[in-house]
Amino acid sequence: MSETTTHPHSPLSAAALDQLFRSARTYNAWLPREVTDAQIHELYELYKWGPTSANCQPARIVFVKSSAAKEQLKPALAPGNLAKTMAAPVTAIVAIDYEFYEQLPRQFPHADARSWFAGNPAMIDDGGTRNGILQGAYLILAARALGLDTGPMSGFDKAKVDEIFFNGTAWKSNFLINLGYGDASKDLYPRSPRLDFAEAAKIA
Ligand SMILES: Cc1cc2nc3c(=O)[nH]c(=O)nc-3n(C[C@H](O)[C@H](O)[C@H](O)COP(=O)(O)O)c2cc1C
Repeated sequence: MSETTTHPHSPLSAAALDQLFRSARTYNAWLPREVTDAQIHELYELYKWGPTSANCQPARIVFVKSSAAKEQLKPALAPGNLAKTMAAPVTAIVAIDYEFYEQLPRQFPHADARSWFAGNPAMIDDGGTRNGILQGAYLILAARALGLDTGPMSGFDKAKVDEIFFNGTAWKSNFLINLGYGDASKDLYPRSPRLDFAEAAKIA
């Protein structure tokens, strides 16, 4: 490998890395500032480029924004997630379409990728879950890149959310992400430590 091989990218600025990772936090309180529908579309247009296996894109997102939709979500929220989720400008339901493979002829036209999944529930579950959650992570990072803050949550009744929002479909909720402008003056606990390289990684 040559050290001088040209490549179009260089590392992002330290400020960008802080915004995406080092000073980005999981927020529990939100400033009273709207996230517009245009911002939600902008977020989708960025997030969608994150890679998935065979370009399968199994995630489906419902951006719960209206008071009526928030009221529908309310009974499914764990008590500890209730107030902050009702206060968040938007709550994204990250769901997975377990019939995602039906789109593969269009999304991965260079191979018969549909046949790798159709009729194989273990492959559907494995591929759908792995890639759908990955897409949820892309959504968090895309939101941060656009200057928004996030609060991901798994504390909710999935069966209830599926019944309310996805009845009669193959979509199943996986986790929620509050989106908005975080209020650092409230309920923001001190940053908890991350594992060191030696504890969690190795170069083989
Ligand atoms: C998938 C996922 C599920 C989470 N579920 C909850 C939850 O149900 N309730 C909650 O208060 N925090 C929840 N969290 C927040 C985490 O505790 C938080 O992201 C983590 O401690 C890191 O915090 P930091 O980003 O401020 O460093 C969840 C985070 C993730 C990524």
